Amino acid sequence: MNRKYRRPLIAGNWKMNKTPSETREFVTGFKAMLPKLRRCDIALCVPAVCIPAAVKGARDSRIAIGAQTCSAFASGAYTGEISAAMLKDAGCKYVILGHSERRAMGETDKNIHAKLLTALDSGLTPILCCGESPEQRELGVTEPWITMQLRAALAGIPPEKLRTVVVAYEPIWAIGTGQTATPDQAESVCAHIRAVLRKQYGAKTARAVVILYGGSMNGNNAAQLLAQPDIDGGLIGGASLDPQKLLCIVEAASCEAE
Ligand code: 13P
Repeated sequence: MNRKYRRPLIAGNWKMNKTPSETREFVTGFKAMLPKLRRCDIALCVPAVCIPAAVKGARDSRIAIGAQTCSAFASGAYTGEISAAMLKDAGCKYVILGHSERRAMGETDKNIHAKLLTALDSGLTPILCCGESPEQRELGVTEPWITMQLRAALAGIPPEKLRTVVVAYEPIWAIGTGQTATPDQAESVCAHIRAVLRKQYGAKTARAVVILYGGSMNGNNAAQLLAQPDIDGGLIGGASLDPQKLLCIVEAASCEAE
């Protein structure tokens, strides 16, 4: 983390877990546990139906609420979809875009680009995910792959908008596997992400962008990962479902710079 230019962010991605009632219970408990000092930003990206309960529960706290995807369209005949403007109006600050689990369900770089545009237009902060498969890592094509994913998603985004985008590096082989990337592996790709942004947008803009690592992050490995200069926080799956486990990561992010 480099606190001079960026504020750390710990974001939970609940995926398809928890009901609205469980959300209420979680947020009430988690809110009460949080340290007083606001040394990092905190977000919970919850299932769409849980957003109202999460927003209500997190009121007057430092917890921001996010969604896990949004429609690529602003409005219209798209049965089952939820627009970025609806999420914003419901009280969301963030939206995860391009998660590998959604890419595996058929989401393309083109879809993700369209979603990013509508999210930014609606005033949401996108958490743009990228990451390589185990095969791609094995083949040694991680960096060109990530470059391609970033360029495709960010095509035409001006620098003032890019500053509000959060990028999450999530190696697919580390998601839900317990096989965390080593701090060196994670830093090397996060530094590459910043280099790609620097080339396109210049140093000043690139150093303002918050870059997260995601993939089996937990209370035991968070401090080491967050000590890396280009890792500004975490996107947490499994460990974000338990308030105590998530708190451990928030604490790691809060004391790293002491
Ligand atoms: P895990 O923390 O469960 O590996 O999930 C990471 C993730 O996919 C967050 O978006």
